[in-house]
Amino acid sequence: MPDQFNKILLVDDDENLNKVLSFQLSQMGFDITTATDGPSGLSLFKRGSFDIVITDLQLPGMTGMELLTSIRRLDKNVIILIITAYGTVENAIEASRLGADDYLTKPFGKETLRFILEKAIQLRKLKAENIQLRNELYQKYDFGNLIGRSAIMEDVLKLTGKVAESDVTVLIQGESGTGKELIARAIHYNSPRKDKSFITVNCPSIPENLMESELFGHVRGAFTGALKDRKGKFQLAEQGTIFLDEIGDLKADLQARLLRVLQEKEIEKVGDSTPIKVDARIVAATNKKLETLVQQERFREDLYYRLNVVTIPIPPLRDRKDDIPFLVDHFLKKYGKEQAYDISSEALDLIMQYDWPGNVRELENTIERAIVISREKTIGIEVLQPISRNLKQKIALPTEIGEIENLSFSEIERRAIINALNKTKGNQTKAAKLLDIPRHVLLYRMKKLGV
Ligand SMILES: Nc1ncnc2c1ncn2[C@@H]1O[C@H](COP(=O)(O)OP(=O)(O)OP(=O)(O)O)[C@@H](O)[C@H]1O
Ligand SMILES: [Mg+2]
Repeated sequence: MPDQFNKILLVDDDENLNKVLSFQLSQMGFDITTATDGPSGLSLFKRGSFDIVITDLQLPGMTGMELLTSIRRLDKNVIILIITAYGTVENAIEASRLGADDYLTKPFGKETLRFILEKAIQLRKLKAENIQLRNELYQKYDFGNLIGRSAIMEDVLKLTGKVAESDVTVLIQGESGTGKELIARAIHYNSPRKDKSFITVNCPSIPENLMESELFGHVRGAFTGALKDRKGKFQLAEQGTIFLDEIGDLKADLQARLLRVLQEKEIEKVGDSTPIKVDARIVAATNKKLETLVQQERFREDLYYRLNVVTIPIPPLRDRKDDIPFLVDHFLKKYGKEQAYDISSEALDLIMQYDWPGNVRELENTIERAIVISREKTIGIEVLQPISRNLKQKIALPTEIGEIENLSFSEIERRAIINALNKTKGNQTKAAKLLDIPRHVLLYRMKKLGV
């Protein structure tokens, strides 16, 4: 198997395990160097040119986590695999966040070792080959990685495509994680401005006193610390698009300044009142209802009308569950890379039942996590604990009627009731209708059956 990925550094304080692994790995054709503590592992790494590092998490002198962080800082291309004790999967997730490529749970056999190594090597190769390609793709952005198969999302995408052709100001409204930024990018990269910059301003993350300079720039000496002239984001977005994210959080005085920019197409740098013409297409987004903020006098009505020339409302994921299987598929490909992951029908059922308060972002994180911890190529319900736990809190019983053979009458009845309640999201009146019984009968039976 090894070709250009040949030199392995193995760091584990268990000398026996080192011996066994060294033997197995050299049989597979690798060239192995071992260390039994963190500091000597690190110094070996600095001296040698390793392609792969396999390290335990518990090490004397320096934890595996620290070693991993240091090595990743030195070399972003080396493959890092960690060895964890059984039952410390959360550590493995943390490690993958710190840059580990994969992990092995003790005890593991030779075939698992081979599989994990092969997978990591393939991934690395693919990454190297694809970086160039992906950069190009990104610049030519289309709706390629924007999934929207439900009827509502198809309308959203149609609208997105249509507004992209023009220069109108767009307001994107949707709950957190629904894909507002993705839509904003799609607008830019499908517009005549696509070869110029797409500049994001995240309104809540910029300190109030710096916001004005951030947006409009400043001249030298405008305030303490303004050592030289600086362009603001509006100027950086010249002939491109400026994306004002979470616009609902913009403070009153800046709302007034922004309104002027929209009206006059001019900005003034902080510390200089000479107006400068700007040509930036404005796309704004908010997860708040701007209408409500306007009613509460927290957002200027005139600015709202200026921004809201076209609104693209992105519905929450729970209102477009038809998209879920396609999104799941997309994320399985995205995070599984060339490993062909799929999902069991039980797991997909669970995902379909869940309400996804964090919308697509939550779904994406769930799939990413599931792939990290799954030892199978088919994602099952056991790696979806966070959402199954959540669902259980709502209804702590099986949701399927399933096979009725071998079930008692009362059990069948109980399941029919639960099924009806699930379908009606817990609405008893509707559930009774569905079961074709009066509501009081339903309530009586529920009590009796302990539903
Ligand atoms: N329709 C979609 N197809 C594919 N991926 C999506 C889709 N919608 C959202 N995502 C993914 O979900 C994540 C969240 O999307 P994005 O950041 O655009 O949402 P947002 O509405 O701006 O969220 P927030 O309000 O939290 O900033 C991103 O990783 C994005 O790629
Ligand atoms: Mg966002």
